[in-house]
Amino acid sequence: MDRGFLFGDSVYEVIPVYNNKPFRAEQHLTRLANSLAAIQLTTPLDNNNWHKIFAELIQQNGGGHQSIYLQCTRGFSPLRDFPFPNNIKPTIFAYSAPLHSKSVAELSQGISAITVKDIRWLRCDIKSTNLLANVLLRQQAVAQGAQEAILVRDGFAVEGSATNLFVVKKAKLITPVKNNLLLGGITREVVLELAAQQKITFVERAIKEKELSTADEIWLTSSNREIMPVMQLNTKPVGDGQAGPLWRKMIAAYQEFKQKL
Ligand SMILES: Cc1ncc(COP(=O)(O)O)c(C=O)c1O
Repeated sequence: MDRGFLFGDSVYEVIPVYNNKPFRAEQHLTRLANSLAAIQLTTPLDNNNWHKIFAELIQQNGGGHQSIYLQCTRGFSPLRDFPFPNNIKPTIFAYSAPLHSKSVAELSQGISAITVKDIRWLRCDIKSTNLLANVLLRQQAVAQGAQEAILVRDGFAVEGSATNLFVVKKAKLITPVKNNLLLGGITREVVLELAAQQKITFVERAIKEKELSTADEIWLTSSNREIMPVMQLNTKPVGDGQAGPLWRKMIAAYQEFKQKL
């Protein structure tokens, strides 16, 4: 009778761990706090206690590289009813699994993607466990032999089913502005910080669907999958069909950034 199960009344985080250390933990916890506030759920633990849970999970799973999954639901109530029950206690669920990061050589093999109509709701900025639309859209990609679906709303490409979108055109990096139609990815933030450090010109603006077909490079980013170059879009090559020069520069900077931590 947990509302996370019955209604998807819950939010979550996925946090990669490199060499025992959660990557960008503070940013993940800030996003968790924002998601909790957006669904009017009082934060059940403070950051110190979240860190204790992370440390325990990492240690119990043998340390090294892992991926922590963390979910907070509104909790259990014996009566299934839509409004929030009074005096309900949030449920916390967390686990850690091995992180199978790809090497740069493996990542440089690239992925294929398809474009699909974004059928999600209007609060995609909340990291909600209501992921049915994302699941169905990703499955559509897989059924067509692709690895990710790029979601298009009203003629604009917003993000992937579980990734943020970057386009390179004439050596300029473009990513959609953060708003209610996409999730503010932690990896997206790192990529923008590294772009500034690497003196790569970038802009946050809406990307028209048709810009995808003339892009020099397309990347999709997420915590566990890092930065993936898209080699094929709707079965057509992206740019020259190879991992592009700006992607090579960015993935090198990303690996160095991880090492430094
Ligand atoms: C819809 C969506 N967009 C973007 C991302 C990437 O976010 P992050 O870089 O924080 O993993 C995710 C990750 O799960 C996602 O589900």
